[in-house]
Amino acid sequence: MSLLAIENVSKRFQSSSGAVTALENVSLSLDANEFVGIVGRSGCGKSTLLRLIGGLEPAFDGRIRFEGHDVKTPGLDRGIVFQEHRLFPWLTISQNVGISVHEAPSPAAEKRRRVAENIALVGLEGFEDAFPHQLSGGMLQRAAIARALTARPQLLLLDEPFGALDAFNKIYLQQELQRIWTQQNIPMILVTHDLEEAIFLCDRIVVLSPRPGRIQTIVNVDLPRPRDRTSPAFTAIRKQLLEELGFGVA
Ligand SMILES: Nc1ncnc2c1ncn2[C@@H]1O[C@H](COP(=O)(O)OP(=O)(O)OP(=O)(O)O)[C@@H](O)[C@H]1O
Ligand SMILES: [Mg+2]
Repeated sequence: MSLLAIENVSKRFQSSSGAVTALENVSLSLDANEFVGIVGRSGCGKSTLLRLIGGLEPAFDGRIRFEGHDVKTPGLDRGIVFQEHRLFPWLTISQNVGISVHEAPSPAAEKRRRVAENIALVGLEGFEDAFPHQLSGGMLQRAAIARALTARPQLLLLDEPFGALDAFNKIYLQQELQRIWTQQNIPMILVTHDLEEAIFLCDRIVVLSPRPGRIQTIVNVDLPRPRDRTSPAFTAIRKQLLEELGFGVA
Protein backbone atom coordinates (compact mmCIF):
# COMPACT_ATOMS: atom_id res chain seq x y z
CA MET A 1 0.00 0.00 0.00
CA SER A 2 1.27 3.49 -0.87
CA LEU A 3 1.75 6.07 1.86
CA LEU A 4 -0.37 8.51 -0.17
CA ALA A 5 -2.87 7.52 -2.85
CA ILE A 6 -4.60 10.20 -4.92
CA GLU A 7 -7.31 8.66 -7.10
CA ASN A 8 -9.17 10.50 -9.86
CA VAL A 9 -9.23 13.77 -7.97
CA SER A 10 -11.02 16.76 -9.49
CA LYS A 11 -11.54 20.13 -7.85
CA ARG A 12 -13.85 22.89 -9.03
CA PHE A 13 -14.11 26.35 -7.56
CA GLN A 14 -17.15 28.60 -7.90
CA SER A 15 -16.28 32.25 -8.22
CA SER A 16 -18.10 35.43 -9.24
CA SER A 17 -16.82 34.95 -12.80
CA GLY A 18 -18.09 31.35 -13.00
CA ALA A 19 -16.78 27.88 -12.25
CA VAL A 20 -13.07 27.03 -12.50
CA THR A 21 -11.87 23.45 -12.80
CA ALA A 22 -8.56 23.66 -10.96
CA LEU A 23 -7.79 19.93 -11.14
CA GLU A 24 -9.22 17.18 -13.31
CA ASN A 25 -8.76 13.45 -12.84
CA VAL A 26 -5.46 13.61 -11.03
CA SER A 27 -4.12 10.26 -9.84
CA LEU A 28 -0.78 9.89 -8.11
CA SER A 29 0.75 7.76 -5.42
CA LEU A 30 3.72 8.34 -3.18
CA ASP A 31 5.84 5.83 -1.34
CA ALA A 32 7.63 6.25 1.96
CA ASN A 33 10.77 8.39 1.71
CA GLU A 34 10.04 9.56 -1.85
CA PHE A 35 10.72 13.15 -2.86
CA VAL A 36 8.18 14.25 -5.47
CA GLY A 37 8.13 17.60 -7.26
CA ILE A 38 5.15 19.35 -8.84
CA VAL A 39 5.77 21.90 -11.57
CA GLY A 40 3.56 23.70 -14.06
CA ARG A 41 2.54 27.14 -15.21
CA SER A 42 0.93 29.63 -12.88
CA GLY A 43 -2.67 28.73 -12.11
CA CYS A 44 -2.40 25.05 -13.17
CA GLY A 45 -3.49 23.80 -9.76
CA LYS A 46 -0.22 23.05 -7.93
CA SER A 47 -1.16 24.77 -4.67
CA THR A 48 -4.68 23.37 -4.89
CA LEU A 49 -3.30 19.82 -5.11
CA LEU A 50 -1.04 20.43 -2.11
CA ARG A 51 -3.91 21.97 -0.14
CA LEU A 52 -6.10 18.94 -0.90
CA ILE A 53 -3.39 16.58 0.38
CA GLY A 54 -2.99 18.82 3.42
CA GLY A 55 -6.73 18.53 4.10
CA LEU A 56 -7.25 22.29 3.71
CA GLU A 57 -9.92 21.84 0.98
CA PRO A 58 -12.46 19.29 2.21
CA ALA A 59 -14.77 19.37 -0.84
CA PHE A 60 -13.49 17.61 -3.97
CA ASP A 61 -14.30 14.68 -6.25
CA GLY A 62 -12.30 11.48 -6.11
CA ARG A 63 -10.37 10.04 -3.23
CA ILE A 64 -7.20 10.88 -1.30
CA ARG A 65 -5.94 8.31 1.16
CA PHE A 66 -3.04 8.83 3.50
CA GLU A 67 -1.77 5.80 5.39
CA GLY A 68 -4.99 4.09 4.31
CA HIS A 69 -7.33 6.77 5.73
CA ASP A 70 -9.44 9.22 3.74
CA VAL A 71 -8.06 12.76 3.91
CA LYS A 72 -10.76 15.26 4.83
CA THR A 73 -9.13 17.55 7.39
CA PRO A 74 -5.66 18.92 8.21
CA GLY A 75 -3.57 16.84 10.59
CA LEU A 76 -0.19 16.89 12.30
CA ASP A 77 0.74 13.85 10.21
CA ARG A 78 1.05 16.19 7.17
CA GLY A 79 3.29 19.21 7.77
CA ILE A 80 2.98 22.19 5.42
CA VAL A 81 5.53 24.90 4.60
CA PHE A 82 4.35 27.84 2.50
CA GLN A 83 6.15 30.49 0.43
CA GLU A 84 5.73 32.95 3.31
CA HIS A 85 6.93 31.64 6.66
CA ARG A 86 3.62 32.25 8.49
CA LEU A 87 5.38 32.44 11.87
CA PHE A 88 3.63 34.32 14.69
CA PRO A 89 5.41 37.69 15.06
CA TRP A 90 4.75 37.91 18.81
CA LEU A 91 6.33 34.52 19.59
CA THR A 92 10.04 33.71 19.72
CA ILE A 93 11.59 31.25 17.27
CA SER A 94 11.52 28.52 19.95
CA GLN A 95 7.88 29.20 20.74
CA ASN A 96 6.97 29.20 17.05
CA VAL A 97 8.85 25.97 16.41
CA GLY A 98 7.19 24.37 19.44
CA ILE A 99 3.64 25.47 18.66
CA SER A 100 2.50 22.03 17.49
CA VAL A 101 3.66 20.34 20.71
CA HIS A 102 2.59 23.15 23.04
CA GLU A 103 -0.63 21.37 24.03
CA ALA A 104 0.78 17.85 23.72
CA PRO A 105 0.60 15.68 26.84
CA SER A 106 4.32 14.79 26.72
CA PRO A 107 6.59 16.10 29.54
CA ALA A 108 7.92 19.67 29.18
CA ALA A 109 11.53 18.43 29.03
CA GLU A 110 10.67 16.15 26.09
CA LYS A 111 8.94 19.03 24.25
CA ARG A 112 11.97 21.28 24.83
CA ARG A 113 14.24 18.54 23.54
CA ARG A 114 12.19 18.17 20.34
CA VAL A 115 12.21 21.92 19.74
CA ALA A 116 15.97 22.14 20.35
CA GLU A 117 16.58 19.15 18.07
CA ASN A 118 14.68 20.73 15.16
CA ILE A 119 16.21 24.16 15.67
CA ALA A 120 19.62 22.48 15.47
CA LEU A 121 18.53 20.45 12.43
CA VAL A 122 17.85 23.63 10.45
CA GLY A 123 20.96 25.40 11.80
CA LEU A 124 19.24 28.07 13.92
CA GLU A 125 21.04 27.47 17.23
CA GLY A 126 21.59 30.75 19.01
CA PHE A 127 18.35 32.26 17.65
CA GLU A 128 15.93 30.44 19.98
CA ASP A 129 14.90 33.62 21.79
CA ALA A 130 14.87 35.92 18.75
CA PHE A 131 11.61 37.16 17.28
CA PRO A 132 10.74 36.65 13.59
CA HIS A 133 11.43 40.29 12.66
CA GLN A 134 15.05 39.83 13.80
CA LEU A 135 15.73 37.04 11.26
CA SER A 136 16.47 37.08 7.51
CA GLY A 137 14.11 35.58 4.92
CA GLY A 138 16.17 32.40 4.63
CA MET A 139 16.33 31.98 8.41
CA LEU A 140 12.57 32.43 8.66
CA GLN A 141 12.01 29.67 6.10
CA ARG A 142 14.35 27.44 8.12
CA ALA A 143 12.25 28.16 11.20
CA ALA A 144 9.08 27.32 9.25
CA ILE A 145 10.60 23.97 8.23
CA ALA A 146 11.65 23.29 11.85
CA ARG A 147 8.13 24.11 13.03
CA ALA A 148 6.61 21.67 10.53
CA LEU A 149 9.07 18.92 11.52
CA THR A 150 8.52 19.33 15.27
CA ALA A 151 5.06 17.81 14.88
CA ARG A 152 6.85 14.68 13.54
CA PRO A 153 4.75 14.54 10.36
CA GLN A 154 4.72 11.45 8.15
CA LEU A 155 4.83 13.70 5.07
CA LEU A 156 6.13 17.22 4.45
CA LEU A 157 4.29 19.39 1.90
CA LEU A 158 6.25 22.39 0.60
CA ASP A 159 4.58 25.10 -1.52
CA GLU A 160 7.34 27.17 -3.13
CA PRO A 161 9.20 27.37 0.20
CA PHE A 162 12.18 29.22 -1.30
CA GLY A 163 10.28 31.22 -3.92
CA ALA A 164 10.84 34.55 -2.18
CA LEU A 165 14.57 34.05 -1.54
CA ASP A 166 17.55 35.35 -3.51
CA ALA A 167 19.42 32.93 -5.79
CA PHE A 168 22.30 32.14 -3.40
CA ASN A 169 20.12 31.64 -0.35
CA LYS A 170 17.93 29.41 -2.46
CA ILE A 171 20.79 27.12 -3.49
CA TYR A 172 21.97 26.98 0.11
CA LEU A 173 18.54 26.05 1.44
CA GLN A 174 18.02 23.49 -1.33
CA GLN A 175 21.19 21.76 -0.11
CA GLU A 176 19.95 21.99 3.46
CA LEU A 177 16.56 20.52 2.53
CA GLN A 178 18.27 17.61 0.81
CA ARG A 179 20.32 17.00 3.96
CA ILE A 180 17.18 17.10 6.12
CA TRP A 181 15.35 14.72 3.77
CA THR A 182 18.28 12.29 3.88
CA GLN A 183 18.68 12.52 7.69
CA GLN A 184 15.01 12.41 8.62
CA ASN A 185 13.73 9.78 6.16
CA ILE A 186 10.60 11.81 5.63
CA PRO A 187 8.80 11.85 2.27
CA MET A 188 8.31 15.29 0.75
CA ILE A 189 6.16 16.87 -1.97
CA LEU A 190 7.61 20.10 -3.31
CA VAL A 191 5.69 22.59 -5.46
CA THR A 192 8.11 24.87 -7.26
CA HIS A 193 8.50 27.21 -10.24
CA ASP A 194 12.21 26.50 -10.23
CA LEU A 195 13.03 23.56 -12.52
CA GLU A 196 16.63 23.40 -11.28
CA GLU A 197 15.35 23.11 -7.71
CA ALA A 198 13.01 20.27 -8.69
CA ILE A 199 15.75 18.35 -10.54
CA PHE A 200 18.26 18.92 -7.73
CA LEU A 201 15.90 17.55 -5.07
CA CYS A 202 13.27 15.21 -6.48
CA ASP A 203 13.03 11.54 -7.41
CA ARG A 204 10.06 12.24 -9.71
CA ILE A 205 8.72 15.47 -11.14
CA VAL A 206 5.01 15.74 -11.95
CA VAL A 207 4.26 18.22 -14.74
CA LEU A 208 0.73 19.65 -14.51
CA SER A 209 -0.97 21.10 -17.59
CA PRO A 210 -3.15 24.17 -17.07
CA ARG A 211 -6.90 24.68 -17.34
CA PRO A 212 -7.91 22.23 -16.22
CA GLY A 213 -4.94 20.99 -14.17
CA ARG A 214 -4.13 17.47 -15.33
CA ILE A 215 -1.01 15.36 -15.03
CA GLN A 216 0.72 15.88 -18.37
CA THR A 217 3.72 13.68 -17.61
CA ILE A 218 5.93 12.44 -14.81
CA VAL A 219 9.69 12.77 -15.29
CA ASN A 220 11.95 10.44 -13.30
CA VAL A 221 15.21 11.96 -12.07
CA ASP A 222 17.49 8.97 -11.94
CA LEU A 223 20.70 10.77 -10.92
CA PRO A 224 22.92 10.08 -7.89
CA ARG A 225 22.83 12.64 -5.05
CA PRO A 226 24.19 15.20 -4.42
CA ARG A 227 23.40 16.24 -7.97
CA ASP A 228 25.68 18.28 -10.16
CA ARG A 229 23.59 21.12 -11.60
CA THR A 230 26.06 21.54 -14.45
CA SER A 231 26.23 17.90 -15.59
CA PRO A 232 24.96 16.96 -19.06
CA ALA A 233 22.41 14.54 -17.53
CA PHE A 234 21.02 17.33 -15.29
CA THR A 235 20.84 19.74 -18.23
CA ALA A 236 19.10 17.11 -20.37
CA ILE A 237 16.31 16.75 -17.80
CA ARG A 238 15.99 20.55 -17.62
CA LYS A 239 15.60 20.65 -21.42
CA GLN A 240 12.99 17.88 -21.29
CA LEU A 241 10.98 19.76 -18.65
CA LEU A 242 11.21 23.04 -20.57
CA GLU A 243 9.86 21.26 -23.66
CA GLU A 244 7.02 19.71 -21.65
CA LEU A 245 6.12 23.18 -20.41
CA GLY A 246 6.11 24.59 -23.93
CA PHE A 247 9.41 26.47 -23.72
CA GLY A 248 11.44 24.25 -26.02
CA VAL A 249 13.89 25.79 -28.49
CA ALA A 250 12.25 25.64 -31.91
N1 LIG B 1 -10.34 29.66 -3.40
C1 LIG B 1 -10.45 29.75 -4.73
N2 LIG B 1 -11.57 30.21 -5.32
C2 LIG B 1 -11.71 30.27 -6.65
N3 LIG B 1 -10.76 29.87 -7.52
C3 LIG B 1 -9.62 29.39 -7.00
C4 LIG B 1 -9.39 29.30 -5.59
N4 LIG B 1 -8.17 28.78 -5.38
C5 LIG B 1 -7.63 28.55 -6.59
N5 LIG B 1 -8.50 28.91 -7.57
C6 LIG B 1 -8.28 28.78 -9.02
O1 LIG B 1 -7.82 27.47 -9.28
C7 LIG B 1 -6.79 27.49 -10.25
C8 LIG B 1 -5.53 26.85 -9.68
O2 LIG B 1 -5.01 27.68 -8.64
P1 LIG B 1 -3.70 27.30 -7.83
O3 LIG B 1 -3.51 28.34 -6.79
O4 LIG B 1 -3.78 25.89 -7.39
O5 LIG B 1 -2.58 27.44 -8.96
P2 LIG B 1 -0.99 27.32 -8.86
O6 LIG B 1 -0.58 26.30 -9.87
O7 LIG B 1 -0.58 27.09 -7.46
O8 LIG B 1 -0.52 28.75 -9.36
P3 LIG B 1 0.79 29.61 -8.95
O9 LIG B 1 1.93 28.95 -9.66
O10 LIG B 1 0.52 30.97 -9.49
O11 LIG B 1 0.93 29.57 -7.46
C9 LIG B 1 -6.61 28.94 -10.67
O12 LIG B 1 -7.37 29.16 -11.85
C10 LIG B 1 -7.18 29.71 -9.51
O13 LIG B 1 -7.73 30.93 -9.94
MG1 LIG C 1 0.54 28.21 -6.06
